[in-house]
Amino acid sequence: MTEKSSIRWSQEMATGVDVIDSQHQNLLQMVNGAYQELDKEVSEIVFQRVTKELLSYAIYHFQTEEHLMKEYGYFEECPEEAALHVDEHRSFSAKVVAARDSVNSEVKEEMEQILEFLNNWILNHTQNVDLKLGGFISLKEKQRGTEANG
Ligand SMILES: [Fe+2]
Repeated sequence: MTEKSSIRWSQEMATGVDVIDSQHQNLLQMVNGAYQELDKEVSEIVFQRVTKELLSYAIYHFQTEEHLMKEYGYFEECPEEAALHVDEHRSFSAKVVAARDSVNSEVKEEMEQILEFLNNWILNHTQNVDLKLGGFISLKEKQRGTEANG
């Protein structure tokens, strides 16, 4: 697997919401771990396991975000952005499921491409829609703070 694929969480990725940021760090760590494992041993069993772990953590993480969206009124105040965001979560899960069903143990390149896709998806998603969500929640938090103090 290529070195360039390895990504580390950095401060620029911070959404400002601690729970989201720490889950993003875990998610990135899992993708990097998946790369390393498949680098050591290319097999369908390893691929199935790492993608299964990745998918279940991603679903847990999406639930956290979507719960926050509800809690802070994101669907009411930013309906289009919220719908787009949730769509991206769903398409990620669908992509992982489809990849797991289709992958062939003989094709190392295919597994690499899938991980590459997931890697890029996470980077793109965290730096776009998640940053917007983070900004929204931070603003709401500030407003709540002002109301509580005022
Ligand atoms: Fe998200």
